[in-house]
Amino acid sequence: MSTTFQLDTSTSRSHPTPTPLRRVTIPAIRQRKVDGVTAEPVVMLTAYTARQAQLLDEHCDLILCGDSLGQVIYGLPSSLQVTLEMMIAHGAAVVRGSYHAAVVIDMPFGTYEASPQQAFTNAARVLAETGAGSVKLEGGAAMAETVAFLTQRGIPVMGHVGLTPQAVNVLGGYNARGRSDVEAKKIVADAKALSDAGAYAVVIEGVVEPIAIAATKAVSCLTIGIGASAQCDGQVLVTEDMMGMFERVPRFVKRYAAMAETISEAVAQYAADVRARSFPGIEQTYQPK
Ligand code: KIV
Repeated sequence: MSTTFQLDTSTSRSHPTPTPLRRVTIPAIRQRKVDGVTAEPVVMLTAYTARQAQLLDEHCDLILCGDSLGQVIYGLPSSLQVTLEMMIAHGAAVVRGSYHAAVVIDMPFGTYEASPQQAFTNAARVLAETGAGSVKLEGGAAMAETVAFLTQRGIPVMGHVGLTPQAVNVLGGYNARGRSDVEAKKIVADAKALSDAGAYAVVIEGVVEPIAIAATKAVSCLTIGIGASAQCDGQVLVTEDMMGMFERVPRFVKRYAAMAETISEAVAQYAADVRARSFPGIEQTYQPK
């Protein structure tokens, strides 16, 4: 991927403003799928903070400020407790920390399902208050009218089908979907309904591989897989999962780093240094000139 991005040198106390760079647009990403083929798969990861976005930005086409922040950042039991205010605060931070990737923000549970008008009011607020370029919402054919309403009024929408965490109370858990014929047909039909309604992409989460492939073939928009298939048009993971921030690794996650262990070792060393009064040392203290 060619990019003009330069990783800036912010510290925990300063956030320099980099030279403005051109951000990838949603239409440019959408146009990657031509006649059902996506030559260059779409790279997407989640971010919830400005610094995290800075580190991902160079490498990603899309950064998702997902409502998984409920569990990952806030320690909530599910994404159902996430509010619009949380998404706006974190989404704005992600936009401030990124200059290249297009930013997508999850619409939280209860802020878009009641009607297309409710969805438009809240999605417009998300875009206006964060500066992000699109929103993501969960649900299949039932949300098609809303997707058409938003896209026709200037809000690009990413759909989300299969395992939809906001529907955990209806689904009964976080298990993979599409194992029965009925469920498999519904997932493909849901993806198609969203694509036909104007969604530029659909996340396919936790779906048995042949159904993820069938859905990818059935739709003209991009499919972004998570626990789905490498044949999807792109992939997404929760960054903390792929960075190894958690010890439990779900089947669909590949651990690309061992951050939990690295942080634990670093903190143990810091604690030992503080207790031994060997931190701060001469290098970290200000001495009279
Ligand atoms: O909330 C989220 O992070 C998501 C991704 C896992 C797709 O929806």
